[in-house]
Amino acid sequence: MTAEPGTRTLKADSAAISAAAAALRQGGLVAFPTETVYGLGADACDGPAIARLYAAKGRPAFNPLIAHVVDAAAAAAAAVFGPDAEKLAAAFWPGPLTLVLPKRPDCPVAALALAGLDSIAIRVPSHPTARALLAAFGGPVVAPSANRSGHVSPTDAAHVLTDLRGRIDLILDDGPCDVGVESTIVALLGEPTLLRPGGLPREEIERVLGHALASPSASHDEDAPLAPGMLASHYAPKAKVRLDAAEPRAGEALLAFGNAPAFDGTTLNLSPRGDLIEAAANLFSHLRALDAAGATAIAVMPIPHEGLGDAINDRLARAAAPKP
Ligand code: TXA
Ligand code: MG
Repeated sequence: MTAEPGTRTLKADSAAISAAAAALRQGGLVAFPTETVYGLGADACDGPAIARLYAAKGRPAFNPLIAHVVDAAAAAAAAVFGPDAEKLAAAFWPGPLTLVLPKRPDCPVAALALAGLDSIAIRVPSHPTARALLAAFGGPVVAPSANRSGHVSPTDAAHVLTDLRGRIDLILDDGPCDVGVESTIVALLGEPTLLRPGGLPREEIERVLGHALASPSASHDEDAPLAPGMLASHYAPKAKVRLDAAEPRAGEALLAFGNAPAFDGTTLNLSPRGDLIEAAANLFSHLRALDAAGATAIAVMPIPHEGLGDAINDRLARAAAPKP
């Protein structure tokens, strides 16, 4: 056990796993080993904790995260399983396979973790420490690889500490990861598609499915054909979005930040106190709520370009882009 400023590293014994589960319950950030790479975990249902997770990683944008669950039954509470999903889960879970599935309408995972999408990436890790943590916590844990954005994924606790020292609460140290590359990601939203090659070979998946996996086609997103997160069609509100709006106009709904001007149209505030972490946690749910309220145009007040503001502005710019 070593004392690091703000970040504790604990050998992954049962006391450490209890401490880690308690930290997650309090909205903390906990790095833990999986069989693939170390993940940076947060309570999947806690929007502000997830916003702090993106901030700790220094993510320039809110890529959707993988929900880690203890078993297939827990996965079925969050995602809709068709026959192919049942087959792959039975064959490969626990293990290094992530399935992208339609999310259930009552899926408890926070909208921010899913980047507002109607699909969810989910996996059951096989690492004993990951499983013990998920069992002790008792709910889904979202975990991207525990590195700063743009760095390689960490395969031991020292890598995590180098990247995230002082930015997260706890690291569960259980030595190096066996697999060393991230999980294989397969989308089952239409034709089964390999979104990211990884720790489970493609051939093994194809053998269980009985046919080849499709490859993501560049037509999904010409800008970033091979980045899985970018393949997901981003959540786009039905309403027309106007950014950096100092004043809302008649007929618009207002998505406010900080002190909102007096306005008699529908208004939702991302963070009345101007807090970017709170604003990130509310972003996708507020956009959806304005859509649901029937808004045809949304004026968005300026959001500062600092901290999580960059990611918020990135998503808002996509939301404002002309629809295909
Ligand atoms: O092995 C792993 O998968 C590790 C360990 C910690 O579990 N996690 C990991 O997470 O690699 P991350 O966040 O570094 O990569 C997850 C990838 C991202 O490229 C993200 O865009 C994609 O999964 N993803 C998540 N949800 C998605 C969705 N609904 N549709 C398409 N891609 C999705
Ligand atoms: Mg990563």
